[in-house]
Amino acid sequence: MLSYQHIYHAGNFADIHKHAILAQVIKAMRTKPQPMAVLDTHAGRGVYDLSSVEAEKNREFDNGITHFWPRRAEPSLLRPFLEIVETFNTGDSVTQYPGSSMIARRLLKPADRLVAVERHPGEVKELQTSLAGLPQTTVVQEDGLQTMLDNVPFPERRGLVIIDPSYEIKTDYADVPKHIALAFRKWPQGSFLLWYPIMNGAPHRDMFLALKKSGVSNMLISEICLEKPPEDHFRMYGSGIAIVNPPWPDAILKQITEHITMRMPAATSGEVFWLDNLKFDEFTGKLL
Ligand SMILES: C[S@@+](CC[C@H](N)C(=O)[O-])C[C@H]1O[C@@H](n2cnc3c(N)ncnc32)[C@H](O)[C@@H]1O
Repeated sequence: MLSYQHIYHAGNFADIHKHAILAQVIKAMRTKPQPMAVLDTHAGRGVYDLSSVEAEKNREFDNGITHFWPRRAEPSLLRPFLEIVETFNTGDSVTQYPGSSMIARRLLKPADRLVAVERHPGEVKELQTSLAGLPQTTVVQEDGLQTMLDNVPFPERRGLVIIDPSYEIKTDYADVPKHIALAFRKWPQGSFLLWYPIMNGAPHRDMFLALKKSGVSNMLISEICLEKPPEDHFRMYGSGIAIVNPPWPDAILKQITEHITMRMPAATSGEVFWLDNLKFDEFTGKLL
């Protein structure tokens, strides 16, 4: 049973973190002349209406896009992402917020391929409407992780898999690393971008351990954590992005992470590190 709907969280600080990095990854990858592809395994809606009853319920965007909006013209590595948001909005307010598939499509060249996967029947309908008529774009209603396994390596041999699950089922924390490890084995040169929430009990650390133990390497991680969670109903207090085979050195990720961290409305910390540098205790099997 799928109950998660991203509209309740659209444009929050985790989306800014995820989408700013996503834009920089695609921007770097598309500089090569050969065509590439993007597979978005948990695509969501395509575009989110921030004036909707659902988005207004908790107004998570107040700590995200609406907070960053007045300073959107400031030169920074967030510009490619913010430029796309600008094309959906006129005037000084921001009411339309593009999601991962729309951002990817806007940054890809017309000949590049986008496959957007979404399983929720309502969300997939919205996604089909928002991506309708765009070049080389396919929307499929399937299981995202299985679709990834079935489709890597891409025929183009160049591309990115975006993995942005809702983590509404606890088994996601085991399924996600298992599928990434299998996909990485099939395509060690592929790039994979994973989003995860940072919550009480740090279940994402189990994903790191599983990825490390299964031999996934060259994974660069950015984490942004709030000192005090703003959304009491949702135990998330931080956002993490892990990129396997990033197209640039860690300095780029450090700059984006620092930019967002420094401008957040409440006390926030940011960190960038490589999975390969994390150590785990051989005896207990736990990450140190
Ligand atoms: C965090 S949201 C995605 C947000 C989107 N990536 C964005 O940035 O705009 C997770 C989405 O995954 C969908 N979903 C849940 N289980 C899925 C599955 N097994 N396969 C594909 N999509 C799934 C949910 O319906 C939800 O829309």
